[in-house]
Amino acid sequence: MAGIPHLQWSQSLSVRVDGIDAQHKKLFEITNHLIDVFEAGSGDFLTVISELVEYTTVHFHDEQMVMMNAKFPGLAPHTAEHDKFIAKVEEFLQAYGEGRSDTGSTMVVFLKDWLFAHTSGLDMEYAQFLAKNSAKTKAF
Ligand SMILES: [Fe+2]
Ligand SMILES: [Fe+2]
Repeated sequence: MAGIPHLQWSQSLSVRVDGIDAQHKKLFEITNHLIDVFEAGSGDFLTVISELVEYTTVHFHDEQMVMMNAKFPGLAPHTAEHDKFIAKVEEFLQAYGEGRSDTGSTMVVFLKDWLFAHTSGLDMEYAQFLAKNSAKTKAF
């Protein structure tokens, strides 16, 4: 049976800020670990989800600082997307805690798909802005 596909970072996902690229790589790594742990039916599932949520929160904060420092005009809607994601994961965790059986796989697939879509989509908008305004931007 084919498992949930892993995420793979590639240069085309670079936002041209080394610290943020490193965080995106680490986020993908934790997500892939979560997929493995989930598929193995391991008891570490909730620990790895917590690790992912914690690291995502740090990443969102740092990314928002980069956008703010660069005076990126799309900061507010981008931050709203970050907040919506965290709220959605919290909702999933609550349902999982209540023992709703299909939540685990739905949550893992949602996390993976959202992180990839966001990193390759909305994050590219500030990356393009930074590239155009690179003289004004200090590296993270
Ligand atoms: Fe990001
Ligand atoms: Fe983002």
